[in-house]
Amino acid sequence: MKYNEIEPFVAKSREYPNYSDKDYWVTRYENVKGPFDWYDDYETLSPTIQDLKLPKRSFILNIGIGNSDFSEKMYDDGYKKSYNIDYARNVIHYMRQRNKRLRSSMIFETMNVLDLDYEDHQFDIVFDKAVFDCVLCGIDADKKASIFMKEVYRVIRPKGYYFLVSNSEPENRLQYLQAPGLKYDIVVHTIINDQEQADAFGENGGNMNVMKKTHYIYICQKMEEPDENEEEWEEEEDTQKEEEKKEKIEKDKNNEILEIKDNNNDKKEEDKRTEKSKAKSTKSKSKKRKKSQKE
Ligand SMILES: C[S@@+](CC[C@H](N)C(=O)[O-])C[C@H]1O[C@@H](n2cnc3c(N)ncnc32)[C@H](O)[C@@H]1O
Repeated sequence: MKYNEIEPFVAKSREYPNYSDKDYWVTRYENVKGPFDWYDDYETLSPTIQDLKLPKRSFILNIGIGNSDFSEKMYDDGYKKSYNIDYARNVIHYMRQRNKRLRSSMIFETMNVLDLDYEDHQFDIVFDKAVFDCVLCGIDADKKASIFMKEVYRVIRPKGYYFLVSNSEPENRLQYLQAPGLKYDIVVHTIINDQEQADAFGENGGNMNVMKKTHYIYICQKMEEPDENEEEWEEEEDTQKEEEKKEKIEKDKNNEILEIKDNNNDKKEEDKRTEKSKAKSTKSKSKKRKKSQKE
């Protein structure tokens, strides 16, 4: 009996570009003009990011940044420790130029996610929009996926986050996020868009089906215990809460003082009025007395 050979994904999808191929991206970025965001933009994702209560001084890594303006908008929101990488040198050059005047402290580096040139535990959060999805498109996908996941995990601090935005459902992603050696607490959100995004893969003759209406956000918190030097984040959160409490007490106190002042003023006014009316009635009484004496 002869079995039909199962065609591998890469061969089958000849109409798709190979999104894991660096050359594909370099060519695509040759004529890059203006920002373009895959899947979801900063505005759509920012409520979910806000729920994480990241301190503004968090170290942020955005992998496979492309020409997205996600990090720029986050920077403008106060997150200034912004590191951004892509293996396409030309798009990194373009991004540096785009930001050198207005956001000169943003860092853009040409780097492969499979070999990150960063320290262990360097980042509070790693953002990945559509990059892991690209890695899974190519040959040796599983091998690359495993290296990718280990590298990302390595640079996240304990209790920090890997924020993955993917077009693939949990059945196809959790296996990678829960691979041996990774200890993440994972929450999945679903984003349903009104329309399919018409650009992106479609733009260069690719198949638009890849840009689905539904995207998934995997919020993966690294569950390792922080070591002694890495308590700052929690400490900062406590300090923030403490400051908010103090502010509230101060506000309440001020309101109380204002109220007391108001009451005192009211009382003074009242007293003045009583004094005046007393004086008036004494005046009119003595007038009356004088009048009757005359009579
Ligand atoms: C689908 S685009 C997403 C761009 C951007 N994150 C966004 O949301 O708009 C994928 C990007 O990841 C980059 N990329 C893919 N694999 C990479 C890798 N192994 N290392 C670094 N960058 C990679 C590509 O060059 C491309 O810019």
